[in-house]
Amino acid sequence: MDKKRLKNLFQQLTVDEKIAQTVQLNGSLVAEYDVMNTGPMENLGLPEDLNIYEVGSIYNVNDFQKLKELQEKALESSRLKIPMLFMSDVIYGFRTIFPMPLAQAGSFDFDLIKEAAEVTAKESYLNGLHVLFSPMIDLVRDPRWGRVMESPGEDVYTAKRFAKSVIDGYQGEISETIDEDHVAACIKHFAAYGAPEGGREYNTVDMSNQRLFNEYLQPYQAAIEANTRLVMTAFNVLNGEPASGSKWLNRDILRKRYGFDGVLVSDHAAIKELIPHGYAKDTRDAAVKGLEAGVDFDMMTAIYAKELPELVKEQHFMELLDEAVWRILELKNQLGLFENPFRGLDQANTGEILTEKSKEIATALVEKSCVLLKNQGALPLKKDQKIAVVGPYGNSHLTIGFWASVSGNPKDAVPLKEGLLAELPEEKLCFARGYNMFDSYDAFGPLKAGIELLNGPIEAEEKLLTEAKEAAEEADVIVFTFGEQFLESGEGASKAHLGLPEKQIRLLDELKTCGKPIVGVLYTGRPLILTDIEDHFDSLLLAWYPGTMGGKGIANLLTGKANPSARLAMTFPRSEGQIPIYHAQLSTGRPLTSDHSDRFISKYRDESNEPLFTFGSGLSYADFEGTWQTAKAEKEAITFDFKVKNLTEIAGETVVHIYLKQRPASIVRPVRSLVASQIVSLGEHEEKECRVQLMIKELQVYDNYGNTIDSSGEYQFELDVLGKKEIISITL
Ligand code: NOJ
Repeated sequence: MDKKRLKNLFQQLTVDEKIAQTVQLNGSLVAEYDVMNTGPMENLGLPEDLNIYEVGSIYNVNDFQKLKELQEKALESSRLKIPMLFMSDVIYGFRTIFPMPLAQAGSFDFDLIKEAAEVTAKESYLNGLHVLFSPMIDLVRDPRWGRVMESPGEDVYTAKRFAKSVIDGYQGEISETIDEDHVAACIKHFAAYGAPEGGREYNTVDMSNQRLFNEYLQPYQAAIEANTRLVMTAFNVLNGEPASGSKWLNRDILRKRYGFDGVLVSDHAAIKELIPHGYAKDTRDAAVKGLEAGVDFDMMTAIYAKELPELVKEQHFMELLDEAVWRILELKNQLGLFENPFRGLDQANTGEILTEKSKEIATALVEKSCVLLKNQGALPLKKDQKIAVVGPYGNSHLTIGFWASVSGNPKDAVPLKEGLLAELPEEKLCFARGYNMFDSYDAFGPLKAGIELLNGPIEAEEKLLTEAKEAAEEADVIVFTFGEQFLESGEGASKAHLGLPEKQIRLLDELKTCGKPIVGVLYTGRPLILTDIEDHFDSLLLAWYPGTMGGKGIANLLTGKANPSARLAMTFPRSEGQIPIYHAQLSTGRPLTSDHSDRFISKYRDESNEPLFTFGSGLSYADFEGTWQTAKAEKEAITFDFKVKNLTEIAGETVVHIYLKQRPASIVRPVRSLVASQIVSLGEHEEKECRVQLMIKELQVYDNYGNTIDSSGEYQFELDVLGKKEIISITL
């Protein structure tokens, strides 16, 4: 409807109706739905006269029938027929589950990431969802934190590109409205939630403002420029203020500085958590702080519902409430909900879910997301080899990762066995479970039955180990699948130890004694510590959580039908003591040189300064080489010209990286930071001339007050092709 009619509707709302609009509840409260709920579930204490079907939004109900019923009830209950907003934790796929975001980011294929997001948007739309709680674009540099899987990793450039691709895919063309087949994006968690002290979930974040402006805030800013319609606040304290109650963060930075005019939703119960943070005195004070910070939706607490009726008797709070409600109504209007409250639902069940096309996109993204970390020739597998596939992931559906269980179904996932059987003769393959992925099923509550079904019964470890060894003895090559199970990462899954469980190491040691080449296939939600076992592998492929088409894509890579090209989006440390370790670090005044004997330099006595696998690591079955041609600065952009050559007869793609090297500046800059990337596809021995443009504003640096600093001077750029580096200089 046009703005005038919307205003008119808004003006007819009573105060109670307005307050109801600011309440967002989990689906489990509105009816007995089996939905993902990520916080305390005690009675919220909602006011008795609040009609639960009149609240502004419900989230994490993903069944279209149930959503239809809910919308019908909402329209019956609402005097002015205001439809509900349906939101959901759809993070990397609705039903077609794509590789987890940290994996996708390593593809550096931002067009394909956008295509995947388009599929997610369409599937979500066709199920009646309006808003997706993604992308999560918190920068992450500590793998102890369980949510690194949901993020595009440690690097600013990668996170910015990823944010834009996903938002464009979800929302479609930038316009006033969000059209058919699309949904609104809700970026999260504003701000810096990805940097909790010690990697412990929900913990304090404390960092300089220059780091905040130059690094952590950058991906959110890019998302706002890409027109994200919603932002979610963060749980953490940031530099002394809880993010969800910070006026500086949400009004001065998010709205004024970055120009965000969409809906700001609190994270689950974050308004209430202002009290235990020691920031709000009581629930009334928490409501004041939330509203004054510009938080429009109060997710999963009764605080706005209970405290606002009294508070808004004061004009100042009435104005703030009006502001919040107006933004919520505008979002409903942009989605066309006043014209069609059953948006998408009228087409639900059309069969356009998990289509052949979406599976193709998912397979391509798996092939481009798995990182070949090591290859001493055991890959690709050869057709005449006898292969023992050892480890539970050899034949498991549990490869979609933590968040995908909200709307996805592990039963859809193609197990590795199925993928391999499509490529290799059956008589050449032998599968042995090797160890139990789970030690017990007791802890998983409602998930228990499903996991047990998909994982099979728990068996004696000794028996599994013996079977695995027998299979390995018979084979020419061993494919060892290992890593974490999906409940070990995601929200609420911080870990102090990042090594493998004892039983996996024991099995690997036993397999090693067989004297056959071992190919490792690692399933994990985070970088693990592999230092002590890395030399057991002749080849190592990082599969992350690959999603629905994992088994197919990985089999294609293992057999050479596809050629790996991904590069790590997050560093793998050698030990937990190195954390945080990431590529864009600053130099100390006493950097480590080749002379390790000097005591008084920046180093560990008992550990290397280098990670095991740094950001950007990733091999190919081919070999490529890059050479600079020219770098020219004109007005607003730098144009880089370079050549890339395939040195082999194996066709493939390579992800070219361009890094900015440290240069003298009044705020010191990282030794090396990624500023551009390009995918180059080359046939056998082919050479191509390539061009990349970089907007000079991307090189802008901010001081501790957020002011821009003069960035003229000499710049060095490094062309990095498969880790081979060449420098070019340019003066700006
Ligand atoms: C808590 C998580 O931090 C957030 O990412 C999620 O979207 C909400 N819960 C809703 O489930």
